[in-house]
Amino acid sequence: MFVLGINGSPRHHGNSNFLMSLFMEEMKKKGHDTEVLSAVRLKINPCIGCGHCETKGVCIFDDDFTQVFLPAVIKADVIVLSSPVYFYAFPAALKALIDRIQVLWSRKYRLKLDEFKGRSRKGVLLAVGATQGKDLFDGLKLTARYFFDAADIRYATDLCYRGMDEKGEMEKHPTVHEDIKRLVNGL
Ligand SMILES: Cc1cc2nc3c(=O)[nH]c(=O)nc-3n(C[C@H](O)[C@H](O)[C@H](O)COP(=O)(O)O)c2cc1C
Repeated sequence: MFVLGINGSPRHHGNSNFLMSLFMEEMKKKGHDTEVLSAVRLKINPCIGCGHCETKGVCIFDDDFTQVFLPAVIKADVIVLSSPVYFYAFPAALKALIDRIQVLWSRKYRLKLDEFKGRSRKGVLLAVGATQGKDLFDGLKLTARYFFDAADIRYATDLCYRGMDEKGEMEKHPTVHEDIKRLVNGL
């Protein structure tokens, strides 16, 4: 299996990147191929809503989305998003990548292409936020759900931690290693 990770945080060695590294360690132990892309390192144009993909099935921009991100998303058997909450949403760089997935939405819903031909693809959301509110992760979950749907990925599961703010806090969480191991075993 090919497991693609997408890091949403611009912070090096931060809380969500730590979750991603634990997840990928477990996946590697199971013998899967893994790759992690960092949203902020990819140089992409934001979607301009031109509608080109809705008729042609391809994007007008030939950038890191088209060259790097989209081929990896198409190849993946499992996709894991790991991200902090920024204003109850994904950070801008990750949201910009997700908006560009409109090209897959268009292929599926406008052009009725069966691009993934019954392949079983799974999506996972890992997330952190500083506060405690009950709605803290609602925005991320909804956006992840519709990203996964456009790419014919089943939303398998998520793991979200409240009260994580300072760098390094996630590493001190008492159950995180067990939580990730259980999540990976359940996939
Ligand atoms: C621009 C910005 C916006 C944020 N917005 C929220 C928010 O709406 N709710 C919240 O609980 N935490 C918010 N946070 C805190 C982060 O989610 C938190 O610090 C998280 O642990 C950072 O994860 P990271 O280390 O993976 O970057 C925000 C942080 C930043 C920098």
